Amino acid sequence: MAVKTLDDLLTEGVEGRGVLVRSDLNVPLDDDRNITDPGRIIASVPTLKALSDAGAKVVVTAHLGRPKGGPSPEFSLAPVAKALGEQLGRHVQLAGDVVGTDALARAEGLTDGDILLLENIRFDARETSKDDGERLALARQLVELVGDDGAFVSDGFGVVHRKQASVYDVATLLPHYAGTLVAAEIKVLEQLTSSTERPYAVVLGGSKVSDKLAVIENLATKADSIVIGGGMCFTFLASQGVSVGSSLLEEGMIDTCRKLLEDYGDVIHLPVDIVVADEFKADSPAETVAADRIPDNKMGLDIGPGSVERFTTLLSNAKTIFWNGPMGVFEFPAFAAGTKGLAEAIIAATGKGAFSVVGGGDSAAAVRQLGLPEDGFSHISTGGGASLEYLEGKTLPGIEVLDD
Ligand code: 3PG
Repeated sequence: MAVKTLDDLLTEGVEGRGVLVRSDLNVPLDDDRNITDPGRIIASVPTLKALSDAGAKVVVTAHLGRPKGGPSPEFSLAPVAKALGEQLGRHVQLAGDVVGTDALARAEGLTDGDILLLENIRFDARETSKDDGERLALARQLVELVGDDGAFVSDGFGVVHRKQASVYDVATLLPHYAGTLVAAEIKVLEQLTSSTERPYAVVLGGSKVSDKLAVIENLATKADSIVIGGGMCFTFLASQGVSVGSSLLEEGMIDTCRKLLEDYGDVIHLPVDIVVADEFKADSPAETVAADRIPDNKMGLDIGPGSVERFTTLLSNAKTIFWNGPMGVFEFPAFAAGTKGLAEAIIAATGKGAFSVVGGGDSAAAVRQLGLPEDGFSHISTGGGASLEYLEGKTLPGIEVLDD
């Protein structure tokens, strides 16, 4: 692949030039709109700082959540603009719209080194449109903000699997470069897939089994073990005829899970015990039961200690580990032990020389919220869906379009 990088752009010179940057600033917020994990903001700083220091007029575009194609205050990037400014140690303006009159006026008023963040790009329905023409029209308006001699830097690794106007189409209109975050993430994933040292263990959790079946199928022939926990494990357990009570279940996926277990039963490992409760609540009394003894009126909210022990043994001799998705509802302390235990097992294996990658917003947030050392892992990726699609062997539109 021939992809130009931020260094190439800085060598060409950016002083006084408009540079459009796509960042992934999609951070989790609590009910009061406080940012609960600023990881993606921190990861976006190096590219923005380098451009601002070099005198570019920086226009940043990003999304937050999944608004329904129109402005809505709860998805405003206002808290992000403030936090980004704090991280950068310089003022970040927030436009009141995406590519409207306020964004245009502010972009025109930028002086060298200024940083302007546009409002949530998904307030414009054309961003995620399946219609190429609609997306291109929005991309043209984004390009207008940086002018004819502008450049595009793709730095939102978490969205490079999306064929969207601010990720893909703008790159077809402007000279384009991979930002430092995108370049670093791709390098790690290349290392993970091209020179995988065995044993290779994959740890998958989180709630959506449907999102991960393709990656399980793809990795089942490559990995030595795939450990499954989190909300998705119940569909696998149910496929074995086990009653899962009121636990999360994707009924439509049961047959596929059964088939995967038939084909790759020696590779896929399920929990042997589960921490259950009456309700999805932090203070709902917890008890541990065998994985095939979940009472009808209880829901599984974490994997149990026996599972942690078993999975820890599996991971202890791994030389390569990829982890995506928490093992339980780690946000509630009573249901955090599974995620913490697995993270500690990965840290221990990393200490013995394994190459470990944490992929995804939730798992990365879990590492930080549980007070685990970030440097205990070889790499913490900012992209969950993007890194999974890369491992599935899919083409990532936002990367492919950077190739000249
Ligand atoms: C993410 O949170 O994984 C990225 O920001 C992409 O968001 P999306 O899944 O809403 O496209």
